[in-house]
Amino acid sequence: MKILGTGSYLPPKVVTNDDLARSLDTSDEWIYSHTGIHSRHIAEADDCTSVMATKAAKEALAAADVSPEEIGLVIVATSTPDYSTFPATACLVQDALGCRNAGAYDLQAACAGFIYALEQGRCWVAAHPDRKVLVVGAETLSRIVDWTDRATCILFGDGAGAVVVGADGDATPRASVKLGADGSGCEFISRAGGARVIPAPGQVPVPFLVLQGRPVFNFAVRTMDAIVRNLCAGVNIEPAALDRIFAHQANGRIIEAVGRRMGLPMDKFFMNIETTGNTSAASIPVALDQAVRSGELREGDRICLVGFGAGLTYGGLLMDWPRV
Ligand code: UT7
Repeated sequence: MKILGTGSYLPPKVVTNDDLARSLDTSDEWIYSHTGIHSRHIAEADDCTSVMATKAAKEALAAADVSPEEIGLVIVATSTPDYSTFPATACLVQDALGCRNAGAYDLQAACAGFIYALEQGRCWVAAHPDRKVLVVGAETLSRIVDWTDRATCILFGDGAGAVVVGADGDATPRASVKLGADGSGCEFISRAGGARVIPAPGQVPVPFLVLQGRPVFNFAVRTMDAIVRNLCAGVNIEPAALDRIFAHQANGRIIEAVGRRMGLPMDKFFMNIETTGNTSAASIPVALDQAVRSGELREGDRICLVGFGAGLTYGGLLMDWPRV
């Protein structure tokens, strides 16, 4: 199977660190030195998760030369669905694209969501080689962060990325995959407002994302290092033999620390966090699409996708681009 096409969409409005420093007790110097982020794209009123997902998906379908009718499944990985629980954002995308022969559902594995969704799509195509799957990672994090909390709001941005997966004559799975979770860390990144909360009459809670940065940072470095090593060991190669690593863009300092632990130079890692911030489930598909369109990712490149997120979840996928 292979990734037949990629697409992405970042909303046009750009918010810089200096813009944030006008209303928050922070600075470009602090944010850049602690995160590697300089600016992020923020959705305006006419964009939301399903709309951005649809724009990215249209690009991916065009690049793959696949019609909406050929899609058998639409999976949207997101932590910021249009509706709080249902309907699934994937159903809105399915309708907007005209994927009238497709099932559609959302997948919630936070920032690791795209890797989980790609793995589901890949397995589904292996079972139904005559059908194609649309896998999207899309987020409107700007609508769930507390813009008065300098420890969280500086990190996040909005956007969407998408891929189309199909059998292309050969439905044998090629990629090596590792998915994992450690629910004991669930309190480190969370957003309340679900069925845990007994609603009080007349009270409409507006829950924000809450984050304990340090333990997440440490978990991320330890886990991404282990996943990449583990996947490489499984195919008897050293991590240095990888052409590129697409690590979840949560914090540039996390990726630098992973590189140091692995003894790898930073140019092994595709980086776009400086201008995107952390776009959660959109981060890896946006990076893939940018690398494809800029010519940085070429057929046959051996790459590793690796991510982590709230849950805590983690996952990695090692592939020879574009074969999965
Ligand atoms: O996709 C997964 C999502 N989450 C993550 O990936 C988060 C991972 N963690 C991180 O990226 C980092 O832990 C942060 C960037 C969130 C924070 O960086 P840190 O180096 O861990 O800083 P800290 O939380 O230990 O805070 C150090 C100081 C504190 O001041 P005091 O108590 O030492 O006086 C904070 O109040 O920095 C202060 N601080 C800030 N100062 C200026 C926190 N945020 C800011 C800010 N501007 N924006």
